[in-house]
Amino acid sequence: MSVAQAEPQGSKAGSISYMDLYRRWEENNWSAMSLDFSADRAGWDSLTDLQRSSALWMYSMFFYGEDSVADNLSPYVDAAPTEEQAYFLTTQQVDEARHAILFHRFFQEVIGIEGDVSTTLAATLPQLNWGYRGVFDRLDRMADELRADRSLPKFAQAITLYHLVVEGTLAQPGQHYIEDFFNKDGGMPGFSAGMTNVSRDEQRHIGFGVKTLSEIVPQSEECKAAIVELFREINRYSIGVFCPPGFDPAYAECWGFSLEDIYAFGLRLVRQRWKTIGFPLEEMPADVWPFDHSMSPDEVASRQVKLLLAGVTGAPHPNPDSSPEIQDLLFDMTARRVDHAAAGPDRFVVEWDFTDASPWHVTVENGRAESRSGRAPQPDLTLRSSWSEWVGIALNDRNPLRSLLSRRLRTKGSPRALNTFRKVFPAL
Ligand SMILES: [Fe+2]
Ligand SMILES: [Fe+2]
Repeated sequence: MSVAQAEPQGSKAGSISYMDLYRRWEENNWSAMSLDFSADRAGWDSLTDLQRSSALWMYSMFFYGEDSVADNLSPYVDAAPTEEQAYFLTTQQVDEARHAILFHRFFQEVIGIEGDVSTTLAATLPQLNWGYRGVFDRLDRMADELRADRSLPKFAQAITLYHLVVEGTLAQPGQHYIEDFFNKDGGMPGFSAGMTNVSRDEQRHIGFGVKTLSEIVPQSEECKAAIVELFREINRYSIGVFCPPGFDPAYAECWGFSLEDIYAFGLRLVRQRWKTIGFPLEEMPADVWPFDHSMSPDEVASRQVKLLLAGVTGAPHPNPDSSPEIQDLLFDMTARRVDHAAAGPDRFVVEWDFTDASPWHVTVENGRAESRSGRAPQPDLTLRSSWSEWVGIALNDRNPLRSLLSRRLRTKGSPRALNTFRKVFPAL
């Protein structure tokens, strides 16, 4: 499956009706119980140790995810604005239960974990990393919020998390590469047949999410604000989902693809879908997607993976890399998160004086922000902390006030400069 075939696009997304989506569900029904896994056990045994560890990591994410989305969809049915949407969502809930059953059977019959669904599901827990837990804990909370608040902005936020982030950005790229490997390899025929059905279902689900959002988001500032609020909350987690155990890229490479491939594939889809919805990434506030939108997905992905493996993005790391290249990437993002409307016409210079890494500074002037290594000649504000303290504040939601109170972060500059800093860098 290429990205172009992944789902209805552009004007086509609007022309597919909810009844068409429902019809496709009836036409494409399949049985998870009748899949034949008898040849897959031999395929599993013929994998290398690393491939088996990697498969357990990835399939645990899928299995836990299918169970979670099956459990969390009910309030979406109640909150859907139209009957057609509600009917489609009920078909989707059946699909998700079927997907969970496929993985349950795979864990039982191929991996060899005996027991009921709660037993096989428990086997996935040690594999779920910080980013993954952050996203799925939010999905649980979102279901509770939607039960209490069926407003359109909350519904748009919930669809964004469920259909666009979890299904579209996290599941689909992983699925794409895994499916590709086993289709070529032919070693796990039962699983491959099941995954082909799963990805066809997921295309329909994501298509529904894109269509729904394209109908309600472009005209509603409240919906846009709710979506932006969600991205600000969860992007730090979703970026860490594919961080492999031990930061080891071999977990992807043993299937013939790289971590960069997954991130680039995901970014292509994200860009394309939000464009179709009518709220492209570059129209969201600058701090939400702090990278150069004219850059190719491969370039952005390569930067993302570097920051991830450096311990800068992803799970909080006690000792993130502070090499010049990594500092450059972090401060490039910092400069892109500037709110130029709040900055005003005056030049404003912030210097970072690290106790254990090289200093950097960012100059904001006339709608431009530039990051450079080294000290600034005349900074308006100097921030002094360890590198890891600052990485925590910039990317992991560490409360800067707490850092200030505990003196792990110190500032030098006027109260006015500190105030300007808060306005110009609202995301910090
Ligand atoms: Fe699913
Ligand atoms: Fe789904």
